[in-house]
Amino acid sequence: MESTYLNCLALFGVGGAHPGGLNLTRRILSREKVDESTKVLDVGCGTGQTSAFIAKQHQCQVTALDYNKMMLEKAKKRFQSMNLQIETQHGSAENLPFENETFDLLLSESVTAFTDISKTIPEYKRVLKPNGVLLAIEMVRNAVVSEKQLEEILNFYGVRQLLDEQEWLTQFQNAGFKHIEVEKVELQPDALPTEITNDYSLSKQIDPSFYKIFEKHHHLSIVYKDILGCRTFRCSV
Ligand SMILES: C[S@@+](CC[C@H](N)C(=O)[O-])C[C@H]1O[C@@H](n2cnc3c(N)ncnc32)[C@H](O)[C@@H]1O
Repeated sequence: MESTYLNCLALFGVGGAHPGGLNLTRRILSREKVDESTKVLDVGCGTGQTSAFIAKQHQCQVTALDYNKMMLEKAKKRFQSMNLQIETQHGSAENLPFENETFDLLLSESVTAFTDISKTIPEYKRVLKPNGVLLAIEMVRNAVVSEKQLEEILNFYGVRQLLDEQEWLTQFQNAGFKHIEVEKVELQPDALPTEITNDYSLSKQIDPSFYKIFEKHHHLSIVYKDILGCRTFRCSV
């Protein structure tokens, strides 16, 4: 298995692998109207922490999608152990295997930056109902970076681009979202992220090289604390 950041998250089975973890998820969801009839899609669900939280809290219909089979297996185990009826779907964010206008709420928590944004954001819009809402938590560039710095960040995280806030807004607008609310997420780069302290689903065998990836992630988040930021985006039509 290739020593990539995403494979590392999958092998350790990190739950809540987005900045702000489950606390941020709770906060952004608390402002939405979610009930038993709400159809929710969690794109890039990882090990399913958010999907499980929503299904348990609101008894709504949740679909959890990821293109990484190991992540999806770990999500399934979580849902079974919690006795939650959550549909799991293997698929890619760039080509969502759903009909147009299927979901009321779509969550994408630290996923879109890893994908081909020009395809993914229009897909989010396509599968949302006309009055649906996209909640996205995204990595954002807060300052100018040198080519060398950019290369290090893109290569390590395996992201295709590092957009600033305005560039993200343009992408959402180009896909047809008209109302976009942005909120800055305060990160604490020198503290261990909550996501790697409290929710793991470890694979049986993990090559030592993957521990080094965690260390490097921690190191980079300190080195690039003025460059790497995070925003939540609430997008509707
Ligand atoms: C940083 S993790 C976040 C996982 C989860 N949303 C969470 O907050 O715990 C990124 C997730 O996106 C998934 N992912 C990345 N690119 C994807 C794509 N093109 N289609 C579907 N899933 C993708 C990865 O497999 C991984 O589970």
